[in-house]
Amino acid sequence: MKKQTLLRTVILTAAGLALSGFSFGADAKEAWGKLCAKCHAADGSGNTAVGKKLKIKNYTSADVQAKMSDEEITKAIVDGVTVDGKERMKPFKDALSADDVKAMLAYIRAMKK
Ligand code: HEC
Repeated sequence: MKKQTLLRTVILTAAGLALSGFSFGADAKEAWGKLCAKCHAADGSGNTAVGKKLKIKNYTSADVQAKMSDEEITKAIVDGVTVDGKERMKPFKDALSADDVKAMLAYIRAMKK
């Protein structure tokens, strides 16, 4: 019986670790590359075909960064962005946890050159 309990603990711990691996935690860079870069560009400059078409701001610019509040950035990521009644960026609230969004905010802030 004791051995079985131990085995169960080991299996549950391993499963827990595997599951926590799905949240990207500090690795906002990887998530940015997967979820955001196709529009916002890898460096956050917005220098992509979609970016130009949709007039995406250049997040490497100190001016642009100064005009965005943490709340605005967070809201855009969580709820998406609608311009003139059209959804330009989908909400990421289902894809990202609250911690992920925080890490993403910090990652965007660090794009400033
Ligand atoms: C389909 C293209 C697309 C994708 C994918 C996309 N965005 Fe956007 N995003 C936009 C557009 C268009 C805007 C509105 C223009 C702007 O504010 O630069 C925008 C705006 C934003 C803003 C608002 C900035 C402000 O003005 O306050 C943030 C922050 C942002 N995006 C972050 C992200 C993050 C983080 C991801 C990935 C999780 C992402 N975006 C994925 C198109 C996209």
